[in-house]
Amino acid sequence: MRRASVVYVILLSVFIVAVSFSVYFYKQVQFFDSQVEDAVLPDESQSKYHVTLVGQEMNHDYWRLVGQGAEKAESEHNVFVEYVGPKRSNLEEQLKLVDMAIQSNVDGIIVQGLNEQFTDMINQAEKRGIPVITIDTDSKQSSRHAYIGTDNYLAGKLAGEALIEDTNGAATVGIVTGSLDNPHHQQRVQGFKEVVEHAEGIEIIALEESNITRVEAEEKAYKMLLEHENITAFYGTSSYNGMGIVAAAKSLKKQNDMYVITFDAIDENIALLENTDIDAIVEQQPYEMGYQSVQLMLDIIHDRYVQDVYYKQPTIIHRSDLSNWKRQKEGSL
Ligand code: BGC
Repeated sequence: MRRASVVYVILLSVFIVAVSFSVYFYKQVQFFDSQVEDAVLPDESQSKYHVTLVGQEMNHDYWRLVGQGAEKAESEHNVFVEYVGPKRSNLEEQLKLVDMAIQSNVDGIIVQGLNEQFTDMINQAEKRGIPVITIDTDSKQSSRHAYIGTDNYLAGKLAGEALIEDTNGAATVGIVTGSLDNPHHQQRVQGFKEVVEHAEGIEIIALEESNITRVEAEEKAYKMLLEHENITAFYGTSSYNGMGIVAAAKSLKKQNDMYVITFDAIDENIALLENTDIDAIVEQQPYEMGYQSVQLMLDIIHDRYVQDVYYKQPTIIHRSDLSNWKRQKEGSL
């Protein structure tokens, strides 16, 4: 072979080898890329929103129902609801939990507006771009997006009207309120007063707070009964107040003619209504509050229109309503 031909064959071989390597590596890179896309890139539609719901006391039927409603909404939507709260009411702990939710930059917070510290915390969250919904107790003066819960002033009025009707407009009343400071309890007392002050035969003789505990409700009712022997009726603005009032009246042997109206259709109150110790209950809608609060939060996150306030209608239950009421509850399970 001539020298020129040898050089030509060598160059051609080098060219063929180089092209083969390029094709091989190009294919490898393409394969690797497609693997990375499949394995590492997250599927956006699967990422869940993280919403924190802070309750007032987890070991309480009212808040259990709020949680069950929220859980139902969670099962229907692309959202993780972290439901947290102190076992027994503890405002400091509640505030800490809201603060932690802010620090973790969650997508939304649902919480009560119990006092100025709660208002400040809500404003902090909103400032950081985390939407807040108040539940059960509103803080109108905060920058929260919306409130869902009872119109507590109206609930107080309904309680007043029921008491007037049930006592034929003649009663000397002691009020045991859950708290003198929290807006929802203040409104429940205001609404009640507003109605009964127009009834000549009704007099409110004492007002004490129970810190939403059964023990303090009993202590305060006991003290009132000793100080005002003429009390014929009690109004309790919190779930456990009715039980405390009944216990105090029983220990002073005054329960027979005592009229008692209290908040919340929790099992113990229903049992006391059934056995005639309690005469009427103001029922709220905690399950609906929990359920709708999560749905509303998703509307806010998705920039959909939400109203300022969503009131859940309170109702009065008397003993005569109980069989219908129970049938309805069973039907809705
Ligand atoms: C109130 C809640 C409270 C619950 C338990 C309800 O009547 O609306 O604010 O946490 O009672 O005391």
